[in-house]
Amino acid sequence: MFHILTKIRMQEERLVELLVDLHSGLPRLGPGSKESTLKALAMCDCLPDNPDVLDIGCGCGAQTLVLATATQGQIIATDLFPEFLAPLESNIREKGLDGHVRIEKADMNTLPFPEKNFDLIWSEGAIYIMGFDNGLTNWRRLLRPGGYLVISEVVWFRRDPPAELKTFWESNYPAIRSIVENIESAKALGWSLVGNFHLPDKAWSQQYYLPLQKRIPDFRLENADDVDAQSVADMTEYEISLWERFHEYYGYEFFILRRPEFTP
Ligand SMILES: C[S@@+](CC[C@H](N)C(=O)[O-])C[C@H]1O[C@@H](n2cnc3c(N)ncnc32)[C@H](O)[C@@H]1O
Repeated sequence: MFHILTKIRMQEERLVELLVDLHSGLPRLGPGSKESTLKALAMCDCLPDNPDVLDIGCGCGAQTLVLATATQGQIIATDLFPEFLAPLESNIREKGLDGHVRIEKADMNTLPFPEKNFDLIWSEGAIYIMGFDNGLTNWRRLLRPGGYLVISEVVWFRRDPPAELKTFWESNYPAIRSIVENIESAKALGWSLVGNFHLPDKAWSQQYYLPLQKRIPDFRLENADDVDAQSVADMTEYEISLWERFHEYYGYEFFILRRPEFTP
């Protein structure tokens, strides 16, 4: 959804306010699932027992909470917008995880952490904001040698998308590439590929779009006279309809990458 909404012309603060409103009470801000997070984590099979983990673009923290239950070390969950971090912070406190997870407002472009500080960097559905190659280049210094970078990124599954879909992505995320192109790029940037897999359809339909679709009528009613809010709802519905019609052409791919042990 963030891909399309960044194209709506309105003040960023207003857009964030509407997104927070639209997503209030929803489990996540993008496609994903507990099973996929755990599957990707299991592929990081050389992690230390108590890994230092950084979650970038954590949003309301669906994956952060999964990581918190499945790992023993320290997790720092970061996002640019305090509006998304606040509910995660309360959630973490309620679950008694505050000794285990720390929330920090941070821009992914300028993360304020020392070099080689983490064993695992996680980012679901957020690297597109700075671009796949930029993220891989800039975040690398934060990982210890042998550390893992796990990301989910929107990709083409097929090379022959229908014109309507192609136009949508050319306008909203022209940097979208195929899985092979991303893997080649990651290798050229000095990463080893541990593995990759598609996010299953139900991680879009059941985990993300279904709760969002249920929320939209109330959101429209609550903001009946608000042109910006109606436009956010329109674009969200359009994005969902594209996925329903064309999801065999694109989707999210998890990439599990590793910083080689003996590199500078
Ligand atoms: C599609 S959401 C994914 C959120 C979460 N990982 C999930 O899967 O539910 C993208 C997230 O990136 C965050 N974001 C946007 N720009 C950012 C930036 N410059 N630095 C850090 N986070 C940013 C947004 O606030 C949002 O929470």
